[in-house]
Amino acid sequence: MDLKEAGIGDGISEIIVTTKSASGMPNAAPIGIITEINEEGERKHFVKLYKGSQTLANVLETTMLAANVTDDAVIFVKTVFEHLSEVHFADFASMPVLTEANAWIVFKSVLIEERSDYLHFQVLPRAVKINRKEVKAINRGLNAVIEAAILATRYDVTTDAREKKEMGKLMERYAEIVKKCGGRREKEAMGILMDKFPFISKINKN
Ligand SMILES: Cc1cc2nc3c(=O)[nH]c(=O)nc-3n(C[C@H](O)[C@H](O)[C@H](O)COP(=O)(O)O)c2cc1C
Repeated sequence: MDLKEAGIGDGISEIIVTTKSASGMPNAAPIGIITEINEEGERKHFVKLYKGSQTLANVLETTMLAANVTDDAVIFVKTVFEHLSEVHFADFASMPVLTEANAWIVFKSVLIEERSDYLHFQVLPRAVKINRKEVKAINRGLNAVIEAAILATRYDVTTDAREKKEMGKLMERYAEIVKKCGGRREKEAMGILMDKFPFISKINKN
C-alpha cells in the first residue's frame, strides 16, 4: 500500500496520531511517522513512542493507531496539551479519527525494539481514506509553529538551565516568524503556546 497519495512521503511526516484505550477512550497527539525506502524501492513505516504518553499506553493495549494528515497549526498545538472533546472525533475502520483531517491511515503496530526512553514500532497500513487533496505553498509560520510545539514538549523535561535559556531564545525566534509569516490559524496556535509558556509571553501575539 503506497501512502504517498495520502500525504505520507519519505523522511518524517508529522501527523496527529489517534488511538483508543482498551475501554474505548479516544486520544490524539502529534507524532512523526518515519518512512524508509529500501534498495528494492519498498516503503516501510515506523514510529518511536516515548515512554509516559497516553498514545504509547493505548498502542500497547490495542496495537492499533491512526494517522491523521492535517496542516492545521491549532490542532497540532491543542493535541500536545489538551484532550480533544468527542466532537472532534469520527469513526473509521473501528478507530477514532479527527473529523477535520485531510487523510486517515489506520495502522497495526509491531514492536521491534525497546529503548530506555522509547519503544520503536513498525506500523503496517490496514485502511486508508483520502478526504481531500490540497495544493498549498509552504508557509514559514506553520513550520515555525511545529518547531515551537516540539520545543514546548521538551521544555518541561529539560533540567539544564543553559539549555532552557537557548530554548527560550529559539521560541522567541519562532514567535517572530509566526508574527511575520503566519496566517490566522498559525497566529492562534502560537497564542495558545504563549499562554502555556510564560517565558515566551513577552513576544507580541499579533
Ligand atoms: C510535531 C510533533 C511531533 C512529535 N513527535 C513525537 C514522536 O514521534 N514520538 C513521541 O513519542 N512524541 C512525539 N511528540 C510529543 C507528543 O506529541 C507529546 O508528548 C504529547 O503530549 C503526547 O500526548 P499523549 O500523552 O496524549 O499521547 C511530538 C510533538 C510534536 C509537537
